[in-house]
Amino acid sequence: MTVLVTGASGTLGTAVTPVLAAAGFQIRPMSRKARPGWVTADLVTGAGLVEAVHGVDAIVHLASSPGRKQRETDVEGTRRLLAAAATAGVRHALYVSIVGIDRVPFGYYRAKLATEAVVREAGVPFTILRATQFPSLVDTLFTVSSRMGPLIVDPRLRMQPVHVHDVAQRIAGLLGEPPTGQVVEIAGPRVMTFAEMAGPWAAARGTRRPVWSVRLPGGLVRSVREGGLISTGGSTGTRTWDDYLAERYGRSAEDGSTVQGT
Ligand SMILES: NC(=O)c1ccc[n+]([C@@H]2O[C@H](COP(=O)([O-])OP(=O)(O)OC[C@H]3O[C@@H](n4cnc5c(N)ncnc54)[C@H](OP(=O)(O)O)[C@@H]3O)[C@@H](O)[C@H]2O)c1
Repeated sequence: MTVLVTGASGTLGTAVTPVLAAAGFQIRPMSRKARPGWVTADLVTGAGLVEAVHGVDAIVHLASSPGRKQRETDVEGTRRLLAAAATAGVRHALYVSIVGIDRVPFGYYRAKLATEAVVREAGVPFTILRATQFPSLVDTLFTVSSRMGPLIVDPRLRMQPVHVHDVAQRIAGLLGEPPTGQVVEIAGPRVMTFAEMAGPWAAARGTRRPVWSVRLPGGLVRSVREGGLISTGGSTGTRTWDDYLAERYGRSAEDGSTVQGT
């Protein structure tokens, strides 16, 4: 079974391709950049998409642009990709989306929701896999939030980080089954507050900087505090935040820091 993986160079794509190859799938990784053994295509211009889907049984669609060109890449790019896939007779489009996009008011999530609608209407049998946040996203948020010195977090924000390897295994499982035509979810093994994640993060980074607590304003953070990004069902991975930190920073994340502030 030949599987086109869009976004194969990304955080999840890098984890997915070896898992699918080990499970016996023939992988065709896709990128905008020419790479040996990869197919070159661009969702925004449409260049290379017809060739990319030719002779493919399934597509694992991970390519996305959370920053610039969200609509052109995610919504319109997915429309272009799946139009080519429908013509080519692709039998399964597996689209990776995000848990809570229908609850949390955020521009990128609105684009993901619109992309899910495109997937449903494209005429290619599909499965939508909504995942919670990857640990690397929280890691990046904390890194950015500590640029000024102390790590500044809203301690009550809640997430359920899921390791990309667990998502990759779930994708391999779904490809072995018929398309569900529905949304399925995968989440991490534990719901954690930012207060719970910040201490182990600082310890794993080996930083002595203090953790400052602030209450951030706005509807987006309020809905995340209220659990908008937490899964309401579906499967859970096994790998924890501490597992990620140990892998990423090579030391166990013993919580040696304290949260200060209000
Ligand atoms: N990060 C999270 O916490 C998280 C959580 C749940 C779900 N998700 C979803 O999982 C999927 C993968 O996320 P990720 O974090 O692995 O993404 P990522 O690391 O940001 O990678 C995005 C990929 O999209 C490709 N891409 C961007 N613009 C493109 C274009 N115009 N044409 C073709 N490819 C393009 C890039 O490939 P090239 O640069 O090689 O072209 C890159 O490999 C996304 O749909 C995301 O919404 C992410």
